[in-house]
Amino acid sequence: MNRIFSGIQPSGNLHLGNYLGAMKNWVDLQNDYECIFCMVDMHAITVWQEPAALRAQTRELAAGMIAAGIDPEKNVLFVQSQVAAHAELAWVFNCVARMGWLNRMTQFKEKAGKNRENVSAGLFAYPCLMAADILVYKATHVPVGEDQKQHLEFTRDVAQKFNIDFGREVFPLPEPLIFGAATRVMSLRDGEKKMSKSDPSDYSRINMSDDADAIALKIRKAKTDPNPLPETAEGLEGRPEAANLLGIYAALTGKSLADAVAEAAGMAFADFKAKLADAAVAMLGPINAEMARLRQDPAYVDGILKRGGEKAAALAKPVLDEVYETVGFLRP
Ligand code: TYM
Repeated sequence: MNRIFSGIQPSGNLHLGNYLGAMKNWVDLQNDYECIFCMVDMHAITVWQEPAALRAQTRELAAGMIAAGIDPEKNVLFVQSQVAAHAELAWVFNCVARMGWLNRMTQFKEKAGKNRENVSAGLFAYPCLMAADILVYKATHVPVGEDQKQHLEFTRDVAQKFNIDFGREVFPLPEPLIFGAATRVMSLRDGEKKMSKSDPSDYSRINMSDDADAIALKIRKAKTDPNPLPETAEGLEGRPEAANLLGIYAALTGKSLADAVAEAAGMAFADFKAKLADAAVAMLGPINAEMARLRQDPAYVDGILKRGGEKAAALAKPVLDEVYETVGFLRP
């Protein structure tokens, strides 16, 4: 049986990279799979979060997911900290994973930078919690953007070592699902940096909460190079900004990159940007309006998340029981 799990941090602005790289694919998957989607607030606090802002961002993220088309009745949509089994399995995985594996994680190296001695221990152990998120449901497939691929490999390593150490096939080895033209949406200010919630410049990203004027303005101001758009996809080589804008256009319109390039061949950036802005507004406008509506009804959103948490906890319980039994914990 196939089961999908994926997670997203409520650590700031939900942006076009999250939408095209992850959420849009989740919306498509819900028709074919049993899906569990989690707002990972416990991952968010691996770096400092203002408590009131974290709570507000968690609701805002849930509203964004519902507005984007994730059906909370058909899927399990919930908040990580409301299901204790994630933290409980993460502890077991802290004892399965090796320091050397964690030391190799590029996301930790990027986030810690020169500040290694002074970041939280949670930031270092982060991949163990992520492995627990996935494996506490015995999920088989995990849709993510490119940047999470290494964490998925880590999850497979943890599952495999657990199974071998205890001589039981407790966990499946989950597969990453990475698809679409926008597996890595880049910053609008620098085609070689990923679009991210933590970029200090708001012009680097299109937020799901941006209105039509803000979207058009950010696209107009996006960095480009002096040449017209290329005739073929090979012509994008060495032109990261052109490649990024065309990739975004392809993902927004559901076209292949080759078709998007053919459509824009030889255009001046200014003209192409107008087309891109129209496509972005057409896609995000209705989502934005629904988010605004849901923002007025926090009790409705909280109710959905509470029910989602109850469903998730019921799915996780037998798996955690099996793990505790396997590890040799004395059961009540
Ligand atoms: P997070 O919150 O940084 O991002 C959520 C999802 O959005 C994708 N994404 C992007 N895709 C394309 N281009 C971008 N610029 C871009 N930025 C973000 C991410 O790949 C991700 O799919 N560790 C995870 C959260 C997590 C998780 C999990 C994911 C925790 N537990 C279990 C899957 C399964 C994270 O920080 O994603």
